[in-house]
Amino acid sequence: MISLKELHTFGFDSLAESLIEIVHRDQLVPTFRTLKGQQYYLLGEGSNSVFLEDYLGTIVLNKLTGIQRHQDDAFFYLSVASGESWHDLVKSTLSMGIYGFENLALIPGTVGAAPIQNIGAYGVEIGTFIESVEYFDIDSSSFIVISGDDCKFEYRDSIFKNALFQKAVITQVNFKLPKQNVVEQTYAPLNQLADPSPLDIFNEVVKVRSEKLPDPKKLGNAGSFYKNPIVTIKQFENIQTRYDSVPHFRIDNSNVKIPAAWLIDQLGYKGKSCLGVKCHERQPLVLVNEGNGNGKGLLMLARKIKLDVSQNFSIDLENEVRLVGNNGLVNL
Ligand code: FAD
Ligand code: EPU
Repeated sequence: MISLKELHTFGFDSLAESLIEIVHRDQLVPTFRTLKGQQYYLLGEGSNSVFLEDYLGTIVLNKLTGIQRHQDDAFFYLSVASGESWHDLVKSTLSMGIYGFENLALIPGTVGAAPIQNIGAYGVEIGTFIESVEYFDIDSSSFIVISGDDCKFEYRDSIFKNALFQKAVITQVNFKLPKQNVVEQTYAPLNQLADPSPLDIFNEVVKVRSEKLPDPKKLGNAGSFYKNPIVTIKQFENIQTRYDSVPHFRIDNSNVKIPAAWLIDQLGYKGKSCLGVKCHERQPLVLVNEGNGNGKGLLMLARKIKLDVSQNFSIDLENEVRLVGNNGLVNL
């Protein structure tokens, strides 16, 4: 049996039956031939996956590395193997004068997982810079390249969570970054910076995130536990009649996004814990492992918050984090 404690950032003491490390793409065909009909879970750095209990299958761990780049007059092009670290890529591009990723600094995880939920922070989503994604198609045992447009990027969503769910192993992400980069500083607190450079943005994002979010190396967590809900204007106005200061961001003429952190905060969950799993004091959207937590505690707390939000605001919170049980994904 293999310990999963160090292989996911929530740090529960779960086990898996076996583990296969993919260090070269040539391993993919024989590996998935062997795994046919068996249970397996693809894993990057485990920063968006929580192993609630022992996993009765094989972990396929992505360790594919390598970065290639070229440029023309207007763009830099990067082809990055999916097992590279996202934050290391942000740092290395910045140091080479390639800009655009700076708002997404300090997001844990592999490059290959980044397109899956279209990672985003401080007004930037990675889909904007993705020209194409190469994946290994498990059913046909072939490598396929899909354009960024066909990835159907949305807020925390893409084709990889829908039509290609459990069918694709992302092997390489191809980025296209304009040389004429425009600094994105519409989101607080970046909007307080006077004429910032990309490096200023990077430093501010690192500072704010380090203050707000618990470091998974010290306190197990998987970042935002739920997505921020998108509701209709009518639903929003109903809430506004009770709470006139409800924060919100307009998505389009019919929908607004409400911070889930605010909903959870209103219900008094900050600092509340259940069997060693706690709603974080500074950022209630983040649930943390106090060290002795377990999957039962996490499910109890997460389901209670979801039910309370539903009863009080008529909003159905959706988990952002992948919850993995004995036999695969578990619903809240
Ligand atoms: P994993 O947890 O290993 O995998 C995630 C999912 O992708 C799983 O379903 C897995 O099966 C699948 N998968 C992994 N690799 C592949 C592959 N190569 N091919 C196909 N499927 C694959 N996210 C944001 O968007 N914005 C943030 O600001 C942010 N902040 C965070 C802060 C903290 C402290 C933490 C712990 C997490 C945060 N996250 C954030 C979430 C997380 O960092 C991202 O979702 C990240 O992309 C996950 O990468 P990973 O390699 O750890 O994924
Ligand atoms: N809020 C409260 N109480 C709190 C904290 C926040 O009411 O204690 C309210 C405030 O109104 C605040 C709002 O929540 O303005 C938003 O909080 P924050 O700026 O911390 O961001 P978030 O909406 O909670 C999202 C992403 C993060 C991303 C940040 C920065 C989601 C689910 N989460 O968090 O992504 O880093 O914005 O852009 O969209 C992740 O996905 O794991 C993640 C960390």
